[in-house]
Formats: sequence, structure tokens, C-alpha cells
Amino acid sequence: MEDRFITASSLDGDLENEYSLRPQSFNEYIGQKKVKEKLDIFVKAAIKMEEPLDHVLLYGPPGLGKTTLANIIAKEMGGSLKITSGPAIERAGDLAAILTSLNTYDVLFIDEIHRLNRAVEEILYPAMEDFALDIVIGKGAAAKSIRLDLSKFTLIGATTRVGLLTSPLRDRFGVLCPMEFYEVDELTDIILRSSKILNLKIDKEAAIEIARRSRGTPRIANRILKRVRDYSLVKGNGFIDLEIAKLALNLLDVDQEGFDTIDNKILKAIVENFKGGPVGLETLAYFIGEELDTIEDVYEPYLMQKGFVIRTPRGRLATEKAFRHLKKDMPKDYRNSNQVSMF
Ligand SMILES: Nc1ncnc2c1ncn2[C@@H]1O[C@H](COP(=O)(O)OP(=O)(O)OP(=O)(O)O)[C@@H](O)[C@H]1O
Ligand SMILES: [Mg+2]
Repeated sequence: MEDRFITASSLDGDLENEYSLRPQSFNEYIGQKKVKEKLDIFVKAAIKMEEPLDHVLLYGPPGLGKTTLANIIAKEMGGSLKITSGPAIERAGDLAAILTSLNTYDVLFIDEIHRLNRAVEEILYPAMEDFALDIVIGKGAAAKSIRLDLSKFTLIGATTRVGLLTSPLRDRFGVLCPMEFYEVDELTDIILRSSKILNLKIDKEAAIEIARRSRGTPRIANRILKRVRDYSLVKGNGFIDLEIAKLALNLLDVDQEGFDTIDNKILKAIVENFKGGPVGLETLAYFIGEELDTIEDVYEPYLMQKGFVIRTPRGRLATEKAFRHLKKDMPKDYRNSNQVSMF
């Protein structure tokens, strides 16, 4: 999946202007209204009380702006940001070293926090709750536990799989922020903002077209914008209008709905090979040769959000929209045999 153009995970090309494109304040951060409003208030309250912000859990599909929010929070709190990830912290000692290096108001950002191992996670509990580190010295009967104080920091955890978090960990976050896919008008604003920063000439219609095909994801919107720019420089005069945008998007294999080849493979498999479903996720993953996690984290959320696939206890089901998208007739008894019985 790494080399797919439309993936929401970051690719090498995304690093181009990554820093300048990244919003630096809540004001510059477009969309995610609820999350932003909540965080803005809690940050201001924390500053007033001269306390660190309570620990924050950001969850949702990749590329929606979690790292960006962590940056903004650290900046507003006047602390510095330390970034690490669940799989990168192998031993309890690694985390202990990170925690003891933090100063008051610093923000520790742990990406993919659901992938922390158990021993490491247990270090986090007292750190989050009491700003303390419990260290065991010695072995066996002579073992002794001592407690070290830590600076009052804020932990920001990010995850694409909130369901995989253990409840003791989840319960220690005071602020829970579900991240949502962006609306087309929000993505349009993001594209226009990025164009300005990158000095691109683009008209609004073209920006809307790119927004419609960006899977509700700012990272993808910025990536497509850069490739459309390339196309306009080579095939046009550098100005991005609707026609250039459409031609470039078709070349990139992004269809009208923002689906790429894998999305369409998933839809095709359900509709054509499994007669619309229901089909189990494992069977589906095996059938199209993709990782199960990738389908669940990256593809399915968007296909479901757009109403092309629904999740039922018996498996994944294609909706009428999916049949229409693939220009296939829905079997006559389809609605009766599937849709009704699931409710
Ligand atoms: N609200 C926003 N307004 C404008 N640009 C945004 C916004 N959110 C994200 N972006 C842009 O999208 C890119 C991806 O955002 P970010 O790295 O924060 O995503 P993420 O949720 O951390 O992704 P991942 O889950 O893969 O770590 C950023 O470089 C930024 O330029
Ligand atoms: Mg990130």
C-alpha cells in the first residue's frame, strides 16, 4: 500500500513544503470544528489555571491532521513537542527515559498508541495519573520500588484503532477527540490555502474538483494538488483550471468519487464475486490480496462514510450506490434478502 498514490499514510513527496503547509495555529486549522473548539477552550482554561492540559486522545483515519493538532497544542501551551510512536518504544526503560526528559507544559505525542506493548503501557499509567515513575530496583525478595516525580506534561495519544486501546489506558485520557473526514468545502479551503502558500494559480472550480476527490483527507488533497500542479506545468501554462484538474486526476486513476483502484477492487469483489455480500472482511482481504488492517483502517471507513458499503454482523454489504457506481444491476431480490434482514 505504501506506493499507492491515494494512500492516506504519508509518502516521500509529502515532505515537499510539509512544514509550510502545516497549520501553525487553531485559526489556520480548517475544519474539525467540534474537536478544534473543544481543544481551544481546554487549552485556554489550562493556561488560565497555570496547569498543563489534560491528556488528549485523537482518533480516526490517517491523514486527518492529528500530528498537526499536537503541534498546535504544544505551541499554544508554550511547551515543546516530543514525537514518538507505539511500535518505536520497545522497552519500559525507553519510555522512562523519554518521560524523565520532559519539562512542565511539554507535550509528548505517541502515534499509533494502540501498539504499545503491555510493559511499556504500565509505565504510562502512573505517569499520566500522578506524574510519577515507578521504578523497581533489584530482583526477587530484595526488589524495591521507588517513585520518581515527573514534570507535569501532556500526553497526546493518536490512533486509527481506538477499539484496540485497553480500557485502563483509554480511561486515563481526559479529552477524547474523534477526528472526522473533511467536507468538500473545508477541503476546498485547504486546497486554496495550500495553493497560496505554494504560489499556484488555481480557480475555485478546480479546487472544488480536487476536494471532491480527496477522500475527505487533507493529506491527500495536498498531495493531489502538487501532482495537478506538475501536470499543469507540463501540459498547460501553469494555471490550474477545471479541465486541467480533471485530466490530471484521471491520469492519477482517481475516479469521480475519489476512489482509486483498490477501492474499486473492493467494491467489485463484493458486488461481482460475492453477489453484493455479505462477505467477511478476512475473505475479502484474502480475495483482493490486501492486508486486513489496511482495508479496515484506510479503505473501509471512507467507503462506509460515502455509503457504498455497510457493515453488518454477517459481513460487508454493498449498497445500491456501489452497484450504480460499477454500472451493475442490482439483483431483484437483493434488498429483501440482505438489507431488510440485517435490521
Ligand atoms: N485542518 C487542516 N487544515 C489544513 N491543513 C491540514 C489540516 N489538517 C491536516 N492538514 C495537512 O494535512 C497533512 C497531514 O496532516 P497530519 O500529518 O497532521 O495528519 P495525521 O492525522 O497526523 O496523519 P497520520 O495519522 O498519518 O499520522 C499536514 O501536512 C497538513 O498540511
Ligand atoms: Mg501523524
